[in-house]
Amino acid sequence: HLSKIKVLEQKNAEALLGGGQARIEAQHKKGKLTARERVDLLLDPGSFEEIGKFVMHRSKDFGLDKEYYLGDGVVTGYGTVNGRLVYVFSQDFTVFGGSLSETHAEKIVKIMDLAMKNGAPIIGLNDSGGARIQEGVVSLGGYADIFYKNTLASGVIPQISAVMGPCAGGAVYSPAITDFILMVENTSYMFVTGPNVVKTVTHENVTSEELGGASTHSTKSGVTHFSCANEVECINNIKTLLSYIPQNCEDTTPLFPYDSTGNEAREILNNLIPENPNQPYDMREVIEGIIDENSFFEVHKNFGENIVVGFARIAGRSIGIVGNQPAVLAGVLDINASTKAARFVRFCDCFNIPLLVLEDVPGFLPGTDQEWRGIISNGAKLLYAFCEATVPRITVITRKAYGGAYDVMNSKHIGADLNFAWPTAEIAVMGAKGAAEIIFKREISAAENPEAKLAEKIEEYQTKFATPYRAAHRGFIDEVIMPDQTRTKLIKAFKMLENKVDQLPRKKHGNIPL
Ligand code: COA
Repeated sequence: HLSKIKVLEQKNAEALLGGGQARIEAQHKKGKLTARERVDLLLDPGSFEEIGKFVMHRSKDFGLDKEYYLGDGVVTGYGTVNGRLVYVFSQDFTVFGGSLSETHAEKIVKIMDLAMKNGAPIIGLNDSGGARIQEGVVSLGGYADIFYKNTLASGVIPQISAVMGPCAGGAVYSPAITDFILMVENTSYMFVTGPNVVKTVTHENVTSEELGGASTHSTKSGVTHFSCANEVECINNIKTLLSYIPQNCEDTTPLFPYDSTGNEAREILNNLIPENPNQPYDMREVIEGIIDENSFFEVHKNFGENIVVGFARIAGRSIGIVGNQPAVLAGVLDINASTKAARFVRFCDCFNIPLLVLEDVPGFLPGTDQEWRGIISNGAKLLYAFCEATVPRITVITRKAYGGAYDVMNSKHIGADLNFAWPTAEIAVMGAKGAAEIIFKREISAAENPEAKLAEKIEEYQTKFATPYRAAHRGFIDEVIMPDQTRTKLIKAFKMLENKVDQLPRKKHGNIPL
């Protein structure tokens, strides 16, 4: 049997080399790791079990009958990250540029099926020149099979896509359907059509990086949730992300050990809100003052910065945080902020991650740009996302809660479980000045000293409405709390809500305004 064992050893060694040593070196020269190096970095040492190592393409056209590589350009299998099962596929750029053939797609679909049946996250490490050009429509069919599975898996298991090289044309739609996209600065790009086609069609001169690099997609389009300085950071971010999320939609999030010091008061929060209601502050400071130390993992950091979203832990439990950001555009809701937060809320709701909303919102952003691009339907996405969320939901109003935005930001009326307000909260239809100018218009213009009258009316409106107490009298606010007690209250409240059961009416699926 010695010779048979030798054959297996040779084949294994051949498979490990992908497209060969020269192409591996070319990959390294570009500052990129190989498909296998990436898998090794991602998974716990020794945990990787490969599936489909010897799969080869079945194509005969354009000389492919003479060119075969074991594995056909994608490494697939399962392993663990911090002891938890995950499935992974990693495209191998050294084999036909990581291009997707019929068999390459079959391998990906096979592990997606396993991931769904066994309820564990799937992580795709993408690095591919797109459809295997020599295969034509067979390759396109392979893409469609993957998109279809991505859609079926959506909301069942977490799906994470890292883009670590080219991802162009139809290929972009698999990551796009998944829950999170990470990109690596300067070595990855995503676009539907590349710079050459762009030049022909729109006469724009643009580089790949400008058109679809990590910085573009993390700031301008919002397509990617994380822009990473290098591949190691990218893979570490995937591991961190996994630490906050459950294995599947039936599972709960991992509980981290938490040693309470017995004193959860955070005095720093008492002095955070500026005296002047028009002065900004950073909502991240509120977040830091509430959560377990250093547990905030921000998502979509550089996109729609007037809202902050991300994961954190509170007494060891994962939560998703959505906070208006008064430090950017006064924290208004605009199209980008609404869609960013809506997507995040829906992810948390899919995967049983309780939601905390920190509210300081002066309203929706006015203007033709926003109206013409559909702030109505885009703002409605966030409203819809909160309304349909059945996970534990808590809101803390730190300052402004104005107008329709008050309703949208996880108000009691749309199903939030507990709503707290700080004494600095102002819950009203609009700011006192605007309100006074409208409702006392006649009185002010008839006054001997209109300016003094206006000031008086502003004062009147402010005392009546720019407080949390009207809302608290109604029970729209469950408790007005001292800022330094927020953490204590939230620890208790999330614990109290931990077995919450809530069900939406039976339906095929809702019709979120897209
Ligand atoms: N199908 C088959 N082979 C492909 C391929 C594809 N879609 N994309 C790349 N390859 C092969 C190349 O022929 C080359 O093979 P070799 O190692 O035998 O020379 C290898 O992959 C590396 O490609 P190369 O062009 O040398 O790498 P690059 O880093 O300079 O450029 C791309 C990368 C992706 C920009 C470039 O390969 C490209 O434009 N590919 C085609 C993209 C496309 O239009 N895809 C189809 C539509 S979805």
